[in-house]
Amino acid sequence: DVPDITLNNGVKMPQLGLGVWQAPVDEAEAAVRFALADAGYRHIDTARIYGNEEGVGRGIKNSSVPREDIFLTTKLWNADQGYDATLRAFDASLKRLGTDYVDLYLIHWPVPSAGKLVDTWKALEHIAGEGRAKAIGVCNNKPHHLQQILDEGSIVPAVNQIELHPHFPQYLTRAFDTSRGIATESWSPLGGTSNSGWGDSSKPNTLLTAPELQRIGAKYGKSPAQVMIRWHIENGLIVIPKSVHEARIRQNIDVFDFQLTGEDFEAIAALDTGQRVGADPDELA
Ligand code: A2P
Repeated sequence: DVPDITLNNGVKMPQLGLGVWQAPVDEAEAAVRFALADAGYRHIDTARIYGNEEGVGRGIKNSSVPREDIFLTTKLWNADQGYDATLRAFDASLKRLGTDYVDLYLIHWPVPSAGKLVDTWKALEHIAGEGRAKAIGVCNNKPHHLQQILDEGSIVPAVNQIELHPHFPQYLTRAFDTSRGIATESWSPLGGTSNSGWGDSSKPNTLLTAPELQRIGAKYGKSPAQVMIRWHIENGLIVIPKSVHEARIRQNIDVFDFQLTGEDFEAIAALDTGQRVGADPDELA
């Protein structure tokens, strides 16, 4: 079974969930329904910008899993930052999702050039106060972004969701998060889509076929994807591998019957290249 992480406000969050970035609305609906009804997932991660919140909402309804048994995350898009715009965007997300609360609401990018991070955070604090988001947090924050929120806000973010995989293990931000009681969540935990998803086919996913991960997986009868997901879990990270394929959705949650050794961890640590597949948060306007 998937263990829970207890967030800094006491809310429990399943450590593994289904990501749906780049899934068109109908594929997201089918993947969410299958993950909940057939594969045992209880945690779904979407965002306004994915354009599939309606599909996620329908997938939840069609699964027949009670809403209160599901941990649902969505994210505020960059163009909606600012206090009032955030409140409006949140209402619109709830409407598309067909629910009256989310479990976690995240600010998608800090967008330092806009200078609205703190005002936006205050709107999330208001939403949390109303109980319409059980927890609030951020994405793609470096320590210096988080520090602004810690200095000027009154709620410490529960979660910081960042790009994190064996090529880009984010030691510094993880250490900062941990020291402030913020849970770290990994996006592109398998190293991203085959063409990076950022329109840059010069950055193919080299982790899903990495010989080191194949060698480790062979010892346990597991795939490189499962080895990586297990690595996130044993590192105490929250992990949301994306797939729209039923066999992979099942495979990605089948990681609770083996354990990595110290040598496995050393071999995976050697895959650190310092290379992101996504944007640098300070450069994304
Ligand atoms: P698909 O939806 O076609 O299965 P991320 O690191 O962002 O979570 O991306 C994972 C990428 O790898 C997605 O493009 C997903 O595509 C694919 N994928 C997900 N799970 C597996 C798996 N178990 N084996 C191989 N590829 C996978």
